[in-house]
Amino acid sequence: MSINTKYLKNNTQDIITASEILKSGGIVAIPTETVYGLAADMYNTQAVDKIFRAKNRPNDNPLIVHICDINQVYNLTDDFCVQAQELVKKYWPGPLTIILNKKKSVPNNITGNLDSVAIRFPAHKTAQKIIKHTGVPLVAPSANSSGKPSPTSFEHVLHDLDHKIDAILDGGTCDIGLESTVISFLEKTPRLLRPGFITQENIQSIIPEIIIDNSVYSKLDNNQKVISPGTKYKHYAPKSPVILINSSTENYVNFINQKYNQDQNILAMCFDEDLKYIKNNIKYISYGPENNFETQSRNLFKILRDTENIDISEIYVHINNNINNNFCDLKTAVYNRLVRAAGFNIINLI
Ligand code: TXA
Ligand code: MG
Repeated sequence: MSINTKYLKNNTQDIITASEILKSGGIVAIPTETVYGLAADMYNTQAVDKIFRAKNRPNDNPLIVHICDINQVYNLTDDFCVQAQELVKKYWPGPLTIILNKKKSVPNNITGNLDSVAIRFPAHKTAQKIIKHTGVPLVAPSANSSGKPSPTSFEHVLHDLDHKIDAILDGGTCDIGLESTVISFLEKTPRLLRPGFITQENIQSIIPEIIIDNSVYSKLDNNQKVISPGTKYKHYAPKSPVILINSSTENYVNFINQKYNQDQNILAMCFDEDLKYIKNNIKYISYGPENNFETQSRNLFKILRDTENIDISEIYVHINNNINNNFCDLKTAVYNRLVRAAGFNIINLI
């Protein structure tokens, strides 16, 4: 079905228009500080169904509820535990999602029939205003087609969802570029399910003991229990196969230069520092300085999308990751997305 998608600007009038569309059961892509979200009234079953259809998202993959006032948490759960309260006091509004037991009144179609609900209070002022004007919390998964890199600009949303959704509000480029950190409070010890801008260290400054879920670093095998349904699906994949090269600059550059002799159509997705050593004529794209993870986060999804506009065979991504350090920082968050884009295909040259 083709819809005439409205393109909205980031001004008061258009923010009100976005809210009116949401109130009448439409779905609207909105900017947040992490990535663009595809929003709907959480209580409007038909609007929520439209989100799943537009994204081609499996129905068992639950959505995050976005609020604009901490008190709204009490309408969603009866178990707002002290640890979660302390954590959000420090990091909300911001790129942090908490998972708590849900109240009966939270519709099952947004939680994939789980008994829990994911909640986030975004820091982006436009997102806050839209939630406020709409008057109800908004569910909002990332506004991409399922399986594709999350959208960090208006153009990315347009590419994936034009004619499939009611409107897109252009809020420019997202500051952080990776989705929120997700932490679950369903067990005695809180469990980090998705790494993001709020790091393990940030969380442990408030809650000393947390568990890092296995899925953060590694592929789940078939009989492992999936706590966050999103982790079992293919993610962030551009058209060409992605292979991670865990390596020093020297070994990476040697690897790339040799590969090029066999296949002139490879793409080196590298660090700024590698550029001067990569042979002329080799196609390359940098995703930032080796040790600047803020820049890498902001660039990552855009670069993965940009690779689709170049005629290439395979993408060799330089990473330099001692993944055994088990300390979940922003570097881990970047790695977590890359390793999924690569379908866990890693060559270790360290
Ligand atoms: O930064 C973000 O979180 C962005 C912006 C738009 O807010 N949203 C986002 O939503 O990334 P989405 O749907 O793309 O990712 C939500 C993740 C999925 O992996 C989903 O499985 C998980 O959160 N999730 C949602 N509710 C859950 C629940 N009740 N239990 C476990 N995992 C849950
Ligand atoms: Mg997503």
